[in-house]
Amino acid sequence: MKPLIIANWKLNKTLDEASFWLQEFDQAVDPQILQEKEIVVCPSFVLIPFLRQTTLINPDLRGLKLGAQTVSHFEEGAYTGEVSAKQLRGIVDFCIIGHSERRKYFGETDEQAAKKVELCQKYEITPVVCVSNFEQVEAVKLSSCQAVKLILAYEPPSAISTNNGIPDTPEHTQKMALEIKSILGQNTKVIYGGSVNSKNAKEFLKQPDIEGLLVGNASLNAKEFAEIVNR
Ligand code: PGA
Repeated sequence: MKPLIIANWKLNKTLDEASFWLQEFDQAVDPQILQEKEIVVCPSFVLIPFLRQTTLINPDLRGLKLGAQTVSHFEEGAYTGEVSAKQLRGIVDFCIIGHSERRKYFGETDEQAAKKVELCQKYEITPVVCVSNFEQVEAVKLSSCQAVKLILAYEPPSAISTNNGIPDTPEHTQKMALEIKSILGQNTKVIYGGSVNSKNAKEFLKQPDIEGLLVGNASLNAKEFAEIVNR
């Protein structure tokens, strides 16, 4: 399986900044790596059409895939301000679900996260579910269709860089990955997130059951992100 590296831009970047990032990333990334690893950028919804066009027209960036940072737990209807999995189908390949910031600032529950997983799988978007404990993993188990692609991002909130976080150890993340797979099945892909940077990325990817990285702050700088990807 190709390692999966996801850039989570969170609530950052204007159109001009995103455009600059793409130029810089294009220059800094090793083109061969784009064949060897799966690289996903998750911008704010408003930037998705722009990035989609760019990745399509720039042959050097053809390897990049797009993801959303969240999605509605409703399928469609009178829910002002929401964006549905049905609308995102064919526009993004991945969607982050249940990020600890969504849980903390927007009150996202395990039940909502489970509903989002179900809707993403229905509309052919690969869910990337952020979990920090086994209760959250069990909630995914109830909703997820095991036959469909599912990615779990093990991301302890205490490891997130903007919380002055300290990254988990690669050895402990490996243990967590094994436990998560024992609950959700061996087909589940487990990635790690929390203060990943170009210095520690490789150590996490060396672990046999850590199949990728979810990168927040360090992904905002295109050169730093390219360095993580190139390793
Ligand atoms: P961080 O964020 O890399 O800045 O710690 C990761 C995340 O929140 O997804």
